Amino acid sequence: MRSKPARARTEAAPQPAAARAKAGPQPGDTQYPSADKGARTVDVIIGLDFGTSSTKVVIQTPTIGGQRAVPVPLQSEAGSAWGRYLLPTRIRVGADGLFEVGGLSGADVHGDLKVALIDICTAKACTVADTYRRHRMALAAGYLGVVLRDARQRYLQDEVDTLSNRRLRWQLNLGIPSAGYGDTLMREVFRSIASASWRLSTTCGPIRLADAEATLDIAPSEDITIEIVPEVAAQVVGYAQSPSRRDGLHLLVDVGASTLDVCAFNLHERDHADHYALLMADVQRLGTYELHRRRLEALGRGTTWRPELAQLAPDARLRLPATNGQTRPRLDTADEGYVRAARIVVMQILMSLRKSRYPGAPNWSVGLPVFLCGGGSLDPTVSKFMGLCSDALTKSTRARPLEIKRLPIPHNFDASALSGADQNGENILSLFHRSSVAFGLSYDALNIGEITPPSEVDPIHPIAPRRFDHLYVGKDQV
Ligand SMILES: Nc1ncnc2c1ncn2[C@@H]1O[C@H](COP(=O)(O)OP(=O)(O)OP(=O)(O)O)[C@@H](O)[C@H]1O
Ligand SMILES: [Mg+2]
Repeated sequence: MRSKPARARTEAAPQPAAARAKAGPQPGDTQYPSADKGARTVDVIIGLDFGTSSTKVVIQTPTIGGQRAVPVPLQSEAGSAWGRYLLPTRIRVGADGLFEVGGLSGADVHGDLKVALIDICTAKACTVADTYRRHRMALAAGYLGVVLRDARQRYLQDEVDTLSNRRLRWQLNLGIPSAGYGDTLMREVFRSIASASWRLSTTCGPIRLADAEATLDIAPSEDITIEIVPEVAAQVVGYAQSPSRRDGLHLLVDVGASTLDVCAFNLHERDHADHYALLMADVQRLGTYELHRRRLEALGRGTTWRPELAQLAPDARLRLPATNGQTRPRLDTADEGYVRAARIVVMQILMSLRKSRYPGAPNWSVGLPVFLCGGGSLDPTVSKFMGLCSDALTKSTRARPLEIKRLPIPHNFDASALSGADQNGENILSLFHRSSVAFGLSYDALNIGEITPPSEVDPIHPIAPRRFDHLYVGKDQV
């Protein structure tokens, strides 16, 4: 979906109420023109997954319609049935500073919107110039502003029958990498971006770079509740509420486009609410782009990096221009190098958990549940490394093999918008796997559960066995 330079509100001639109601929701609207002030209020929660390669939006009305969570199409055309629900995380800044989103390429296109933010937060403060930091934040806020405005208008149009006579109370949940959740600066940066993007999304005119920069300084709007939620907690919310849920230690491995996000969490119930203690987390630049970069390097000169090549699912490798009998061994070596690097990241977490962070976790002796998710986990090379981690773990410790699984598709994930012929199990599965973070984010933050960042969780040591020998009378004491 492209951002059309919309009419500025100030230019619009006043419209009679009846005409506005008939015209339906306009860009920037947060309420239906037909809902008057006395109408019943309903909560609407936007789950916004700002992925490094693509952005996904799922919207839920938790109190009506069986908690239906609806993925929102963000593009009108795509190569696959579920591709319409992903929008490339790229923005073009036109000569006059006008933002444009969609499947873009070219020199004035910024494609590293999220990665740049993570870098800003993890670099030493003194090495990042303030102007650069603001510029990157404005790009991200502008992009998300356009996405939110388009997604909300689309949703309001589609849900007109169920919602048009209600007042809508909005909540926006934005995901953050799990390793960044304990980082105050990263949380603050993502929160200001979310707040600015919501404000921008409620305007109806063109969104420009200068507007986005200015909006960063404005206090949060009162018509929205914003929460910053670690992606891992969001991703497992469906599982935590499903009958297959188990308490205890779990691992989540999310292979995205840019990042490999590994997180160990302890799930348990406290005061009738889920509690996630994030025991350890690590994020490394080992998503499918890195795999693809290594493959291109192995093929040598003439095969240059193009992100869209890495997007070629299901098996990007087969689509590489020069795959033949001669190049295959070189590609195999590149893949092995990638698998080794990814395995090291996961093994470091597994071994620290086993040795010091939570050696006595009961799940070690039944098979530690590992959720493998993210678009990249569907790549056959990528999915191989978890099996290798399981072998290495059982060889070096007495733990049972890992129980590697996929997240279950929740009953309230509504994929009915996939049209007739596209309504098959495989498409629904792909759509859910690409939208699982946004799906979890569409829950009320209270239902996602309480989250403790890794820095605040002490190692969990086994309880020392109680000694009862002092209660017995030994033979020599008789
Ligand atoms: N069916 C598939 N088979 C193989 N690879 C796939 C498949 N579907 C998606 N991918 C890969 O998944 C990647 C995108 O995954 P995802 O949407 O989880 O990333 P993201 O959330 O944008 O990135 P990140 O989590 O790093 O911020 C694409 O680069 C593509 O290579
Ligand atoms: Mg992701």
